[in-house]
Amino acid sequence: MPIIKIDNVEYETDTLSGEAKAQLISLQFCDQELARLQAKAAAYQTARLAYAKALKEALSIEKIRQNLLMSIEDGQYHAREKIKKLGDLSYDNYLSVGLALKECFLNPQRHDELIQRLTPHTDVIIGVLPPGLQSYGLLPKRAELNSEQIEEKQLADITDADIRQWIIDDGSLVYGELERQDLHNYFAAVAPFLSPGGRFVDLGSGLGKVVISAALHYPFESCKGIELLGYRHKLAQERLQKVLDTVAADLQEVNLPVNGSDPIQLPWGDQLKVKDISQLQKRVELFEGDMFDFDVSQASLIFIYSTCFGSLMTKISHKLANEAPVGCLVSTTTFSITHPAFELVLHFPAKQMAWTDVFIYRLIGDQHWPEIPPTVSLRANSTEWEVKARALLSQNNS
Ligand SMILES: C[S@@+](CC[C@H](N)C(=O)[O-])C[C@H]1O[C@@H](n2cnc3c(N)ncnc32)[C@H](O)[C@@H]1O
Repeated sequence: MPIIKIDNVEYETDTLSGEAKAQLISLQFCDQELARLQAKAAAYQTARLAYAKALKEALSIEKIRQNLLMSIEDGQYHAREKIKKLGDLSYDNYLSVGLALKECFLNPQRHDELIQRLTPHTDVIIGVLPPGLQSYGLLPKRAELNSEQIEEKQLADITDADIRQWIIDDGSLVYGELERQDLHNYFAAVAPFLSPGGRFVDLGSGLGKVVISAALHYPFESCKGIELLGYRHKLAQERLQKVLDTVAADLQEVNLPVNGSDPIQLPWGDQLKVKDISQLQKRVELFEGDMFDFDVSQASLIFIYSTCFGSLMTKISHKLANEAPVGCLVSTTTFSITHPAFELVLHFPAKQMAWTDVFIYRLIGDQHWPEIPPTVSLRANSTEWEVKARALLSQNNS
């Protein structure tokens, strides 16, 4: 005879009344449901612990990423090193032409001569007077040079073409960096046009901020920068080393697996993984040299902070049209690209993404473009320029 035990009392089921049997069935159903819910609760508890761990890790890696981005801020305030040796720069005449101009700059009696020689080239001067000449500029005084022999040139013996080229070269060495939020917006804008694993290049990479930022925003396989000035390249390498040391220490502290494929959630998707951060050393490379000699044939995104490259835009576009791969994205600031090999993909007018215009192009043409002569646009009012230049000269020499 089947026996059932309820609350420690045994009952013979055959002897139970019809109503008791019905209650018994309901009771058994409740017991089974309770057991099922308890098993479910245990499973949710386990899952909850796993989610909490993942959340903690995700928050830690995002915090690490943010701290790294903070640590590469403010390079625009770095102390400029004067260029004192010919070997510091690949520009042939930078020191000899620059020193001849600087002598006029420092001598009030020669200001007329300086104004007269600069007037035909005001369209290529950045600001009012060439930045290199000024006290914060990259040119030393002749007396500060002692080691290498620099050819001594008199201003009268220097051609107009050499002065113009000197002004263009000097302008291209002006330093600036985009803000952290601008770069965040920039990578948000380009991400939809990229595929993970591409190659990023910064032409004129300065202290390396954009190269390192690229690696911290998107899973590029490689992020490379090329910088002409040796001292800036050195500062960039020091900056990168600091970032690498911080990454190693921070990852150890939060105990994250260096090969972690946990995604880092960013507004434009979750392609960036923990391992992309831990492998920064492999992904970021900084070079010293001239961007016009740099290999861009594998690039997927080329960044140029071209605000001071106005007179070089034709030369830069020509290089990229012929050497970058079709489909490659190229972005510029302030100056647009007018070369027919490029189509405009996005344009952010000044103050939308950054303080100045940002243009993003795609290379569409094939790779054999003839050279296009640079266009010259004369400054509208040279009398107005002269008034400002003279005011600045007297201020510098007072
Ligand atoms: C405006 S800064 C931008 C730095 C960096 N790309 C950023 O956005 O933070 C431009 C840099 O380009 C460098 N530069 C100028 N002409 C160059 C050339 N021909 N090759 C490589 N670098 C160059 C300058 O020395 C300067 O450091």
